Amino acid sequence: MSQLKNDRLLKAIWRKPIDATPIWIMRQAGRYLPEYQATRARAGSFMRLCKTPELACEVTLQPVQRYALDAAIIFSDILTIPDALGLGLEFLDNHGPIIRRPIRREADLLQLKTLDLERLSYVYETIQMVRKELRHLPLIGFCGSPWTVAAYMIEGGAQPGFPTIMRMREENPELLHNLLNLLSKFIFAHLEAQIHAGIHVAMLFDTWGGLLNTADYETFSLYYIKQIFTQLKRTYHHYNDNKGVPCILFTKGGHRWIKQMIETECDVIGVDWEISLQEARQQVDDQVAIQGNMHPQYLLQSPEVIRDEVLNILDSYGYGSGHLFNLGHGITPDVPPEHVSALVDAVHELSRLYHQ
Ligand code: CP3
Repeated sequence: MSQLKNDRLLKAIWRKPIDATPIWIMRQAGRYLPEYQATRARAGSFMRLCKTPELACEVTLQPVQRYALDAAIIFSDILTIPDALGLGLEFLDNHGPIIRRPIRREADLLQLKTLDLERLSYVYETIQMVRKELRHLPLIGFCGSPWTVAAYMIEGGAQPGFPTIMRMREENPELLHNLLNLLSKFIFAHLEAQIHAGIHVAMLFDTWGGLLNTADYETFSLYYIKQIFTQLKRTYHHYNDNKGVPCILFTKGGHRWIKQMIETECDVIGVDWEISLQEARQQVDDQVAIQGNMHPQYLLQSPEVIRDEVLNILDSYGYGSGHLFNLGHGITPDVPPEHVSALVDAVHELSRLYHQ
């Protein structure tokens, strides 16, 4: 089915029999790793690291060299699109992202019109380099969801609750829909270019979808995600023996909307710790695979506690394929690297029981 030596993750996505549950970790390439800190220091800044394919390739590979993870995720960011649009993205130390020229009015939007993919060529070059060096594992490419990227573009950075986009939703929904429409086209194009460069799996991070109520989640977030995934499925339907490009949808706080998320035509739903995998599995009713959902804070506990929680989660999903082990959100910078070994080893060892 694929040329990869370790295709556990792809098999779990298609819910085919596997020997053990695959695991990868959201934000696995990052600040908790001393080797990441060293490469980032060499790059000088986070964006320079993203934009230098040799270094971005290096940090993509670091976690899969250190741990027996079942997938790599390309080192990049969801905010590369606003950066390529010339909105003045900066990452100040300990301050999160800043977007100097936010989108607030019709006139701001009129300046966007097209996304020049040339300005994201460093992402595609990184993917090509990683594929040359990483022959045995699948590679995940990603974008932010239109709603989540718009939240930063409108706010001009990160603010608790993203009040500016929430207000625009009430006061000028038409402007917001115009921006979301445009972003959906850009995000589709960026994912498509990542597919051409060699990713095996496409993921959308809808980190801020959970700020919305159900009706608004469907209107302002899910609707656009569905446009992107259905178009990807249609365009690349001949990939993977006509199963298309596998798509993962993660909405933080999305446990309320599992039924709706399935309708986007994604293959995997990422859930946080607000729902048990048992309940999530009942709701998906064998239509998609499930990714998640250990609370990242367990990684600050002892290896014994981590192991116990791994068993709880594996047991909650139960027997058979269709589970991609992950955290319910990104790993935090304060995690001791050896705790990640304990996690990965526990998942592979303890899950065998559930695949007999
Ligand atoms: O998962 C991976 O290892 C791949 C790399 C990756 C990064 N960002 C690298 C990064 C991925 C998949 C992302 C996605 C991303 N970026 C999201 C969605 C995922 C989520 O956690 O909800 C969001 C919301 C962003 C936006 C972003 N990027 C913020 C808010 C920040 C600053 C705060 C923070 O979390 O660090 C970033 C910076 C960033 N992106 C870092 C990394 C490793 C830290 C930069 C540094 O080295 O200082």
